[in-house]
This record gives sequence, structure tokens and C-alpha cells, in this order.
Amino acid sequence: MSELNLVLLGPPGSGKGTQGERLQEDFRLPYYATGDILRAAVRDETELGKTAKEYMDRGDLVPDEVIIAVIVERLGSPEAADGFILDGFPRTVPQAEALDAELERLGRDLTAALLIEVDNDEVVRRLGGRRTCVKGGHVFHVEFDPPKNEGVCDIDGSRLIVRDDDEPEVIRHRLEQYHDKTEPLIAYYDHRSLLRRVDGGMSPDEVGDRIRALLATMRMEEDI
Ligand code: AP5
Repeated sequence: MSELNLVLLGPPGSGKGTQGERLQEDFRLPYYATGDILRAAVRDETELGKTAKEYMDRGDLVPDEVIIAVIVERLGSPEAADGFILDGFPRTVPQAEALDAELERLGRDLTAALLIEVDNDEVVRRLGGRRTCVKGGHVFHVEFDPPKNEGVCDIDGSRLIVRDDDEPEVIRHRLEQYHDKTEPLIAYYDHRSLLRRVDGGMSPDEVGDRIRALLATMRMEEDI
């Protein structure tokens, strides 16, 4: 496998961010999480952040053209030349089509779309206990993945908070948006033989091991 160009798919709270951080460490590839990029823009009060905030607070998706521009710019940058990990993009069929068009323009292919599968009840349990650090966006869970010191990020020592969109009614709306707008991507990538399913219901370490095993198998198959 010459390059690793990965998309992480899955409902809110399925563990895309948790596994994305591990993949980034394993493969030393740039990791583009659109939620993190947008939250940083909101924090910094940039034009992008001002546009995105109202959508994010409601649990709606930001308009396709806004987020497509953000990702296209990064995929064309030198740091992404050897591969990338996308978390939270694409999230609609037009976004997936835009990604395909950009990769074609760059003469590159997607390696796989990893779908981390968990059910709605598990999503609600996970997002209800999530704590996110204000600086680097590192993710913890009060029960399943607690930080060493309560309220403090293990990685950069910054404060841990509850995200604005992790309120119960916003979580429900984000799930509706996922089923309505993002789930069609499962068929989209399956049709292109790029979809790889991972059971996200296990512990973070077990899910990480499954993903590593899956990518190792794909590499072996490519060498055969
Ligand atoms: P975004 O930040 O991408 O939110 P999301 O997709 O809803 O995903 P989450 O970050 O909520 O969950 P995750 O799957 O990363 O789970 P995590 O690892 O944190 O997007 C936010 C908003 O930005 C959107 O609503 C939209 O408005 C906008 N946006 C972003 N991208 C967009 C796009 N492309 N187009 C339009 N709008 C866009 O894990 C969750 C919790 O569970 C954590 O506490 C974690 O510790 C715990 N956990 C993780 N794995 C496990 C496990 N295996 N077992 C037990 N607990 C676990």
C-alpha cells in the first residue's frame, strides 16, 4: 500500500476521534477532523467559525460548500502528500463526490472508508460522559476512558469540558442528521468496494486492535 488515504465514518460518539488519534500516532499521517477544525474556528472567531457556529450549536451540518473548501485546501498541502486520515468528512453524498473529484485531480485514490458501528443507545451513553480538552480537542470519558486527574487533559494539561453539542436534545438531532444525510455514504463506499466495517461496541483498545489488523490485512492483500 503506497499511501494510506483513510476516511473514518460512523455516528456521533462512535469513537472516530478516539481511534483517529491512535491512527495518527501509528502512521504519523496528518489527521483532519472537521469537527475539531470547526470548533477551533469558532473559538478563534474566524469567518469560518462565525458561519459554522449556529449550525453546530443546533446539531445541524454546516453547508457542503463551506466544509468542502476547508478539506480541499488541506488535501492539496505538502503535509498530506503521503497520506491522510479524515474524520467527519465526508458526511453527505455531495461531500463524498467532491472528495473523489479532488483526489482524481491529484491523481490519488482513497484506500478505505472505515465504518465504526455502534447503536443509538451506546451513542447516548458515550456522549453523555464525554469530556473534551479545550486546547487540543483530546477526548476522554468519565467512565470508559477517564483522565488520570479529574477535569484535566492527560496529554496537554488543559481543562476538560462538556461540548455544547453534547446536550441530550442536540445529541438526538445529530443522530437524526447522521441517519438522514451520512448513512447513505455506507452504500456509496460499499458500491466502490472501499467500505470496511468495524464493531465499535468493544473497548477503545479492542477497536484499535481490530482496525490495525484490518489495515494489516489490506496491506498483505495488496502485496499478494
Ligand atoms: P464532530 O466533532 O465531527 O462530531 P461527530 O461526528 O458527531 O462525532 P463526535 O466527535 O461527537 O464523536 P466521535 O465519533 O469522534 O467519538 P469520540 O471518539 O469523541 O462534528 C461536530 C459538528 O461539526 C457537526 O455536528 C456539524 O455541525 C459540524 N461538522 C463537522 N464535520 C462536518 C461536515 N463534514 N459537514 C458538515 N458539518 C460538519 O468518542 C465519544 C465518547 O465515547 C468519548 O467520551 C470517548 O472517550 C468514548 N469512547 C470512544 N470509544 C469508546 C469505546 N470503544 N468504548 C467506550 N467509550 C468509548
